[in-house]
Formats: sequence, structure tokens, C-alpha cells
Amino acid sequence: MRRSAHHAPLPMPDPSAAEHSTRLAERIRAAIGRAGGRLPFDRYMALALYEPGLGYYSAGQRRFGPAGDFTTAPLISELFARTLAQQVAQILAAVDGGVVLELGAGTGQMAADLLSELERLERLPERYLILEVSAALRQEQAQTIARTIPKLRARVEWLDRLPQTPLRGAVLANEVIDALPVKRFQTTPKGLQEQVVTLTEDKTLAWALTPAGPELGAAVANIEAEMGSRLPPDYVSEWCPQLAPWITSLAGTIEAGTALFIDYGYPRAEYYHPQRHMGTMLCHYRNRVHDDPLTLPGLQDITAFVDFTLTAQAGIKAGLEVLGFTTQAHFLIGAGLPRLLEAETARTPEHAVELAQQAKTLLFPGQMGERYKVLALGRGISLPLSGFSWIDFSNRLGCDHSTVIN
Ligand SMILES: C[S@@+](CC[C@H](N)C(=O)[O-])C[C@H]1O[C@@H](n2cnc3c(N)ncnc32)[C@H](O)[C@@H]1O
Repeated sequence: MRRSAHHAPLPMPDPSAAEHSTRLAERIRAAIGRAGGRLPFDRYMALALYEPGLGYYSAGQRRFGPAGDFTTAPLISELFARTLAQQVAQILAAVDGGVVLELGAGTGQMAADLLSELERLERLPERYLILEVSAALRQEQAQTIARTIPKLRARVEWLDRLPQTPLRGAVLANEVIDALPVKRFQTTPKGLQEQVVTLTEDKTLAWALTPAGPELGAAVANIEAEMGSRLPPDYVSEWCPQLAPWITSLAGTIEAGTALFIDYGYPRAEYYHPQRHMGTMLCHYRNRVHDDPLTLPGLQDITAFVDFTLTAQAGIKAGLEVLGFTTQAHFLIGAGLPRLLEAETARTPEHAVELAQQAKTLLFPGQMGERYKVLALGRGISLPLSGFSWIDFSNRLGCDHSTVIN
């Protein structure tokens, strides 16, 4: 679960972790040198998270869970993946589909619990594909699946790129968009500036400002046009240049079915609200949350909230329909979590308190229930999706579903 940032001192890394971070920082310094002394923040974030062998997601340290840096919903409770499985079963039945594609599968726990539940529902996909950028996490996923669902292992396949043949089925991405590198910008009296990473005289990583290039300038002008007003002075925020192209490529892999994006984020009007003037970036290190992405590179997660309007617009432009947008709590309730909770509590009454606690974490507004949202983009689905049967907030996205946005 991701909490709000605070400013207490961070725990010191042990000597081998510190050495690891120093090696990555050297690589980043070299990249800053090659870039003429200033590296766009999205390039820095890509190196800090994904540099082979050294980046946060590419190296072998413990990231998820109470002993790591943060916890995600599939690790809080199997109720999460089992409820998601009810929605996936409905999608597979609707398109007579046999494929699930999971993007960024973390430890592999969600895949394992989802497949177990689909087996129970007699709706197993022929293939469960995983596209994961981190070699270390692929290994961890393979171990989780071999250990927990050995009978279903043969259905799971790891991909190096998106499938070449469009699929019929479901695409799932839990907390993946927030891990895509973002650019940071700031409105200043000198006009729009991009926050970049540079080196001080003693070679410490530091922020600098540089005039925004045409791509960032156009993106912010578009945000302001859609908001109907200029962003206030000294406003800092993020924009994800990879998001629209990523959604476009994904859309090309769906012949019929639905992609479900679950993440913390807002529709555009809330994302770029004047009061959110410090942006949405958060860093996670040993279950502490702070807002300094330049510290401890390689040892901490760096994320930004998701602009769900941008995500939906990219899908619409690529020919997908918005099939629903709601909070995680409303989605899980609509998809059947209360029924599963009741059945599980009756089956294992000794776990009743624990199960109720897990459900609260997933559903309560002060925990994950409201900050996390679910967006469904798809094609060839005529049924209303169960996860959006309780409340559908698609109208808050501010995009006309039939409009093609340029
Ligand atoms: C915050 S973790 C979430 C993991 C998992 N889905 C969960 O909920 O526990 C982000 C995951 O996305 C992966 N990832 C990041 N960018 C990706 C991309 N472009 N394609 C596929 N996976 C990606 C990371 O390696 C990691 O597995």
C-alpha cells in the first residue's frame, strides 16, 4: 500500500546495498556527462528503476511486502486476485477468449491466485502470458508459480515483447503505469521549465531547470486547454511521455476483450488541480514514503500517480472503448468481494478477523479503496462489466467516448 510522503530521516542502507547504490550513481553520473551535464528526469527515472543489473526493479533485492519497500494489493490479500478473477472470468466468457496477459507481474502472486480462482470457476485461460521488464522479477514470478500452482505452471508463458497475434481475453496491469518514467515540469516567470538532473561541483545529484522542449510544451499546453485555465505560478507536476504510445501498442494486441488498469491516480481535473502544486511523485524505501527521487538510486521505488484521462484518451484514440472507471473499492464490491469474503469466512472461521482486516485495507477510503482506481478499456464487449455495476465514474474522465483526440 502506498501512503503519503513524510520527512523523517530514512534508515541507512547496509554496506552492500550502499555499495550497489554507489555503482548505479556512477552509471547515472556517466549518463549525465554524456548528455552534456543535464539529464531529463524521465531518463534518470528509467536508469534508477530499470538499468540492467543495477536499477531498482532489475537487481535482486527484496522490494515487496513488510520486509521490503512497499506492499501491493495482491500481497495484502488473496481476496484481491480472487475478486479480479471473477471479472476476468466474465470477460473470457464474453469474448470466448482463452488468453490473459499480465503486465508487470511483480512477485507472481497475483498470477498464482488468479489462476487458482479461475480453475475453481472452471474458466481457466489456455495461456497466461506475462510481460515483465525485470529479469530478476521474472525469476521470482517463475518460482512463485512453480511453488504455489505447479499443476497450472504449463499455462504460464513469459514474453519479451507484446504478443504479435492479437488476443481474445483480458489484459491486466496492477500498479504498472505508476512505474513508467515521467517528466517533471515547473511553471516559472521565465515560462515552462523542465526539471532535470545535474551534478554539483562535488558530483552530488541535484535538480536544475531548463526550458521545456516542444513535446513537453505541447503536452502542458494541452493539459491547460482541457482544464480551461493556466496552471498557477510555480506549479510542479509530472507528465508521462511513454503512456500514450504504451497504450497504443497494447490496444493493437487486443482483438476482443478488456484491459484493466489498476493504480493510484486521478482524472485530469483532479491530477492537475491547482492545490496539487507539488506534483504526485512518491518514493518508497523500506515502507517509508518520501519525495526525494535523487537519494539512494537503485534502492528505492520511484512512482508518480496516473493521469487516467490521458490513459483513457490514448485508448480511445487507438480504437478502444472506455468500459468503466471507478474506485478500487467500488470495483471490488461490484466484482464480488463481499460474497467471496463471506464464503471464505464460513470456510475458515479461525481467519475471520484477519480476512476482515485485509478486506478493510483493500476497501476503506483512507486505505486503498479510494485512492486506487480501475479503468477498463476494451473492444468487442457488449455486456456491462460486473466491476463497474456498483458505480461507474467514466464521466469524470472528461473525455467524450466517441471523440478521437489528437
Ligand atoms: C509496482 S510493481 C507492481 C507489481 C505487481 N503488479 C503487483 O501489483 O504486485 C511494477 C511492476 O511493473 C513492471 N514494469 C515496469 N514497466 C513495465 C513495462 N513497460 N512493461 C511491463 N512491466 C513493467 C516492474 O518490473 C514491476 O514488476
